[in-house]
Amino acid sequence: MTRAARTAPEETGGRPRVLIIDDSPLDRAVYERTLRDFDLRFETSGEAGLARLAAEEFDLVLLDFQLPRMDGGEVLEQIRNELKRDVPVVIVTGGGSESVAASLFRLGALDYVTKDDLLTPRVRSAALGAIERHWLDRARLAAEGELRSRKDELEAALRRLQEAQAQLVHSEKMASLGLLVAGIAHEINNPVAYVANNLAVLSRDVRAIADLTRGYRDALGAATPPALREAERRLDLDYTLANLERLLESSRQGVGRVRSIVDGLRDFARLDEAERKPIDPNEAIRVTLEIVRYQMKLKDIRLVETLNARGVLWCFAGKLNQMFLNILLNAIQAVGEGGTIEVASHSDEAAHAVRYEISDDGPGIPAAIRGRIFDPFFTTKPQGVGTGLGLWISYDIVERHAGEIEFETAEGRGTKFIVTLPARLPSDPA
Ligand SMILES: Nc1ncnc2c1ncn2[C@@H]1O[C@H](COP(=O)(O)OP(=O)(O)O)[C@@H](O)[C@H]1O
Ligand SMILES: [Mg+2]
Repeated sequence: MTRAARTAPEETGGRPRVLIIDDSPLDRAVYERTLRDFDLRFETSGEAGLARLAAEEFDLVLLDFQLPRMDGGEVLEQIRNELKRDVPVVIVTGGGSESVAASLFRLGALDYVTKDDLLTPRVRSAALGAIERHWLDRARLAAEGELRSRKDELEAALRRLQEAQAQLVHSEKMASLGLLVAGIAHEINNPVAYVANNLAVLSRDVRAIADLTRGYRDALGAATPPALREAERRLDLDYTLANLERLLESSRQGVGRVRSIVDGLRDFARLDEAERKPIDPNEAIRVTLEIVRYQMKLKDIRLVETLNARGVLWCFAGKLNQMFLNILLNAIQAVGEGGTIEVASHSDEAAHAVRYEISDDGPGIPAAIRGRIFDPFFTTKPQGVGTGLGLWISYDIVERHAGEIEFETAEGRGTKFIVTLPARLPSDPA
């Protein structure tokens, strides 16, 4: 019951307050004799008894079953359901009505005595027993409640700790990864810039020198000294001259590729950008694909890109990259050698949202763990491979974008992660 526990009877000076609801004046005299050491109050009808119980606290109710108008069963029922009192109740029945009394246990009577018992010590022991059992029950319930709330507190504290730890591990990792990547990108950028520059100058000069060489050959013709002829032959001059242009062109392409990788790294490393910015929603996933291209190549994974989103997406760009990276890495780890990963994006014009789908043909996620994959530290991978933080972080990132992350999976067939992000929020500039 819901009421606060009163002090135990021993603490009220040892005289338990007992309400006796019984319409017989004869019985009253008997009670007064057998329950001398109790603090007794009498009422002669169910109605009067209920009124008294509503106003005062008692340690026990002795309830006669045969009462005028309202029988003991109805009174008990009202004590529990109307007054909501969990005071212990002992039923007093006429001889031979034990079966009725038994049915009252279901309503929460603790014991019963018969009228014939009234003159015997049985009444006193039933009264004391009921009071004692009631207090023991209450003490037990209170202790259980206390224990449960302590346990809940501990569990909540543990959860908070785990999340704080996860957050720390994560932010530290990402911060250092971001710094590392940004640092490397910066270091590579300088030499790449002057190699590109030198290549441009070299192309121009080499072309001029090649023209000059051809000029000399034409001018000298048959007069070319044998030593020079021999040198030309060793060099295979015609071939070399024809090839120079091609070599320079492929070097330029190579440098261009290094440049775009460095740019990709720089984009990716914008990890801690505090502001939402409008970006090309396809570019967001492309820069991340760039980062994992090598891992895909190692496993000979086939990548199917269907990037059809339009317009701009307002977001924390670095965070999005990180989310895509986590999901892509899971997909790469899930598929077998030569597996397939599909990456798709499209705009849901009606909902003003961008929808991304990353699917793999890996083993799928077993039903038993589907409810836990977003929990921090939940991993099925060996130590050193899995941290169990990837999806938890991704969930957090999607939530920060007011978006949704879901997955569809079938054992043996693969998994698809679906991320839907609003293209802009009311707080973004118009
Ligand atoms: N594409 C996927 N295919 C199969 N299982 C996956 C996939 N993505 C996630 N999981 C399951 O979810 C778990 C949690 O993923 P994640 O939070 O990224 O942690 P981690 O990759 O470090 O284990 C993984 O250990 C794996 O069991
Ligand atoms: Mg992962």
